[in-house]
Formats: sequence, structure tokens, C-alpha cells
Amino acid sequence: MDLFEYQARDVFEKHGVPVLSGIVATTPEEARAAAEQLLGASGGVVVVKAQVKTGGRGKAGGVKLARSAQEAFDRAAEILGMDIKGHAVHRVMIAAGADIAEEYYFSVLLDRSERRYLAMASVEGGMEIEQLAVERPEALARVAVDPLVGIDQAKADEIVAAAGFAPEIAAQVAGAIQKLWTVYVSEDATLVEVNPLVKTGSGEIVALDGKVTLDENAEFRHPDHAELEDKAAADPLEAKAKAAGLNYVKLDGEVGIIGNGAGLVMSTLDVVAYAGEAHGGVKPANFLDIGGGASAAVMAAGLDVILGDAQVKSVFVNVFGGITACDEVANGIVKALEILGDKETKPLVVRLDGNAVEEGRRILSEAAHPLVTLADTMDGGADKAAELANR
Ligand SMILES: Nc1ncnc2c1ncn2[C@@H]1O[C@H](COP(=O)(O)OP(=O)(O)OP(=O)(O)O)[C@@H](O)[C@H]1O
Ligand SMILES: [Mg+2]
Repeated sequence: MDLFEYQARDVFEKHGVPVLSGIVATTPEEARAAAEQLLGASGGVVVVKAQVKTGGRGKAGGVKLARSAQEAFDRAAEILGMDIKGHAVHRVMIAAGADIAEEYYFSVLLDRSERRYLAMASVEGGMEIEQLAVERPEALARVAVDPLVGIDQAKADEIVAAAGFAPEIAAQVAGAIQKLWTVYVSEDATLVEVNPLVKTGSGEIVALDGKVTLDENAEFRHPDHAELEDKAAADPLEAKAKAAGLNYVKLDGEVGIIGNGAGLVMSTLDVVAYAGEAHGGVKPANFLDIGGGASAAVMAAGLDVILGDAQVKSVFVNVFGGITACDEVANGIVKALEILGDKETKPLVVRLDGNAVEEGRRILSEAAHPLVTLADTMDGGADKAAELANR
């Protein structure tokens, strides 16, 4: 989960990373009130910053200075509602203005291929880091971080030296880097990036912009992270599936997909997309892995989510019985159809294979539900489901 800058700022502050005050506003009036609060203490300048989960906000006109509360109101009125690379701006942060002497870069991230963490730092901030990495790679220090040691004083000093920070700020930067490492570890982040980390006119080191990605696999350790979620932006079907504990991703097609096991579901998407070429170009409508225990309740919850997608015209249930036998799955489908009752109005193609397949098919044949078609093979089932979606 990516955080908004204002959320990253809050998390930084919580762990002692030096930041400036910031107040979120969703209307120009709120922006004016926030500026009134901040202007006195921040040298008469505030910055109005678009809060969107994409980079390059400044270049897109989403970061503007304001020297009075009225100016903050005007800039917020311009920025709210702006579209930055497909992201609508619903909030701005009014941040205390910094007197910037120099801009630096720092990040720490998960380096999956090396099975380590990687810290990157540069004294040439400001410029886009991707561009710097390509054009002047020597200006971007990359230092591997051993997960068992982390960024201690020695590692922080190593990063600071590798990036070539000036001696008079080296200790301060090393301190900030260790605090950012604390953020990384204690919040279970996979990315913490500060661009720019700045030196102010009075020689203070401050994180002016933060990007933080949290590891959703660690959610169970962080009940407080739930409130960082941007519920307004989540797809309503995905939110519903998440609440039901389902592994669901909404796609843009017409054939609803239910399968067990991520690999089988992925290949089902491919097979359906291929079959769809012969049936008016219909495509898979979603990814949904109901996992090992394909019980009636799980099947019903899955079907319910898929049927909630107005674009869906047919559903393909593709299950390979392993530990969960096909008879249980077939019973699950029959009971799910009972649970859903009149809600289920779209045709269902079911392909079962593997453990107890005979019994599974017998159960579905006997139930003889008018909406259910049994398929013998995965390709055959995909073709039938695509054909039904194209009617
Ligand atoms: N609080 C502030 N006070 C003074 N100047 C600021 C402040 N925040 C940002 N700036 C200036 O605006 C520039 C862009 O700000 P910021 O890094 O937050 O946005 P961005 O880099 O355009 O967005 P992103 O990092 O999402 O690509 C900074 O490099 C800095 O020069
Ligand atoms: Mg930035």
C-alpha cells in the first residue's frame, strides 16, 4: 500500500525524522485556515501540495508557494480537482515553507534479487532520480544493507560517505538516515524515499517530501495501518471482496472467473482471453482465487462479488480438485446457487477435474440447475463461457 505524502510525513514525525508541519485540506477554505495557522511560524511562506499517489507533482503544477492565507486559498482552489497523470487531486497539504539551501536524495527499499535491502543516496537531489541514475550513475550511491544488521551508525556513516555529503552535515544526515531506517523496519515498509531531503539556510536537515510503501503482508502486525487506506479510491468490488477475505482483482472483461490456486486462475485468464477472440473479443472480467477450501460459503461470496460486476455476462468456474475434492466443490456450487437464489441470473460454466471428479460431476448433473453448464475440459469450458458472454 502506497501512502500519501501527508501520511508519510505523519509516520516520519512519529519516528523522529525531522519534518516540517503540514495540515491536510480538502477545500480552499480549509487551506486558508491551515495557512493562517502555519504562516507565522514558517517565515511567511507555506507550500500548497497536491496529494496524489504519483510522482512529478511539482512539474505538473501541483506544488505552489503561498505568501498569505488568501494566496493559499487561491492556489488550493487551482490545485484541488486537478488531474495529475490520471490521479484526481482531492486533497492538498499545506506545508510550512522551508528555506532551502541544498536538496539531497535518500531511499531504502527491498532488493528482492539480492535478498537484501538497498539504500540509495545522492547529494544531487531536486533532479528526477530516475534521470540521475541513468545520466550520472556515479552521483547516486548504492549501498547494500544486511537485513540482520540494518542501518546502524556504521552503515549510516558508510552511506553518507559513499554519497559524499559535506563533513559539516554528515552527522545530521546519518542521524536522519537511521531514523528513516526505524520507519522502514517498525512500519514494515518496502520503500521509504525522501526526495528532497534538504539542508535549510540555517543548516538543518529536513525531509521535505516522503514516499512510503507498506507491506500488506504485514498488515496483521499493524491494526493502525487500516486507517491509512484510501477507501474512496478502492474499487467497490475489490473492497467488497477484501472484506470477504477473497483474493480478487477486477479486470475489464465480460467473463467472470472463479478458480482455485493462483496458477490455475492465471492460466484460466489466458485461456478465456484466447477463446474470446473467436467470440466477439470478450475477455476475462476478473481474477478470483478461492483457494483450497472451496466451501459453499466461499463459493457464494465469490459469485456474489462477480455478479455485482455489471459488465459480467457469464461465469467460468474452473476447479482442480486436490486436497479439496470435487464433490465438496460441486456441493459448494449447488449450495451457493441456493444462497444467492434469484440474484444469480447469469449462466455458469463449470469445469471440474482431479480428486473425486466423477462424484462432483454427478452432483451437478443431478442438481440440473438451469444456469449451469458442465464442461469436460478447460479449453471447452473457456470457449463455452466466452460464447455465452457474447450472446
Ligand atoms: N515545504 C516546502 N518548502 C519549500 N519548498 C518546498 C517544500 N516542499 C517542496 N518544496 C519544493 O518543491 C519541490 C517539489 O516538491 P516535492 O518533492 O514535494 O514534489 P515532487 O517531487 O514534484 O513530487 P514527487 O516527489 O511526488 O515527484 C521540491 O524539490 C522543493 O524544491
Ligand atoms: Mg519529491
